[in-house]
Amino acid sequence: MIEKLQAGDRVALLTSGGDAPGMNAALRAAAKVGASMGLEVVGVEDGYVGLMAGRIVALDLRALDEASRRGGTVLGSARSKVFPTAEGQAKAREVIARERLAGLIVIGGNGSLTGARTLRDADGSRGKLRVGGIPASIDNDLACTTMAIGVDTAMNTIVDACDRIADTASAHRRTFVVEVMGRDCGYLAMTSGVAAGADAVLVPEIGKSEESIVEQVVSMMVDAYTRNTGKRRVLIIKAEGVKVDSASLRERVELAVKEQLPDVDTRVTVLGHVVRGGTPSAFDRLLGARLAHAAMRAVSEGETDFMAGWIGPGAMPSSETKLCAHDPYVVLTGLEVVLRETERLMKGDSPVAQWRRRIFSEIEPILRK
Ligand code: F6P
Repeated sequence: MIEKLQAGDRVALLTSGGDAPGMNAALRAAAKVGASMGLEVVGVEDGYVGLMAGRIVALDLRALDEASRRGGTVLGSARSKVFPTAEGQAKAREVIARERLAGLIVIGGNGSLTGARTLRDADGSRGKLRVGGIPASIDNDLACTTMAIGVDTAMNTIVDACDRIADTASAHRRTFVVEVMGRDCGYLAMTSGVAAGADAVLVPEIGKSEESIVEQVVSMMVDAYTRNTGKRRVLIIKAEGVKVDSASLRERVELAVKEQLPDVDTRVTVLGHVVRGGTPSAFDRLLGARLAHAAMRAVSEGETDFMAGWIGPGAMPSSETKLCAHDPYVVLTGLEVVLRETERLMKGDSPVAQWRRRIFSEIEPILRK
């Protein structure tokens, strides 16, 4: 354990990568918790791009009160190609030393936390910089946290959009393919598909070929519209990580069902960035606040190179995590472990990945009933 921070020490907050609803609530909580401990909490504009350029700004608590009700991030975000280079690292380290930063809390996804880890040996104002991470990504593709900030809001946005689509789809007896974000992860598509009452969810984890996806959709449509199931619509959620173009899927399906279902149309809606914006749900605001609270306290107590994650009621913390002394549902995990486990999750090797794949396969025949 390294030296604790003292009143007046500076801790910077940085949001990076794809923004996620609830980031502002995390910023607000971190700023307030830090202020209550006498720390000077500042912001870094536009992620690592702003860090390299020394764009450190004071934080206005009243503005954060307002912002916490909104999506996006008031600090701005960016994806930087320069930051991981030697030149980028040198610039960031120079700014950290010049600005007398004692701690840095990074709010973001996998790439952002990978960046945070590179700065753990930067020279700060009180020895090595204390670096803490907070998971924020609508994709829920980070390990060592049950949920990342933004997932719940994104899920609600998708469900709301699907409810609207289901109304019009039923009116016309149509099939809709709704494509949702999630990068290479099918979590968001699957959870929102179940909540929205979809008839099928196409996720990359199942690894189906284009051919078998077309067959699946066709057989489901034939079942739904010809076997007196009472279905007036077929709703298919497709994760963007499934590398089949939605427009060409529609063409192939329409061609295949033309004879049997001449009156049934298929339509495609790509929700895109709509899924990432909007008012954060109460859950995401609270999750942001809890993780930020834990991260700021941990940094001030001398912890470094960690991510604060949420394990949820009933979940068992792994032996590689540390319980947070201030919140029974928050755990601190070393960033090395987080990044390693995230890689395993995305490769399909970790127990969580295997569990998700099993559930995804089990759900498929149930949804189409
Ligand atoms: O990681 C969050 C995310 O929204 C993914 O779901 C999506 O694939 C990606 O970011 C989109 O990135 P950009 O905003 O750079 O197009």
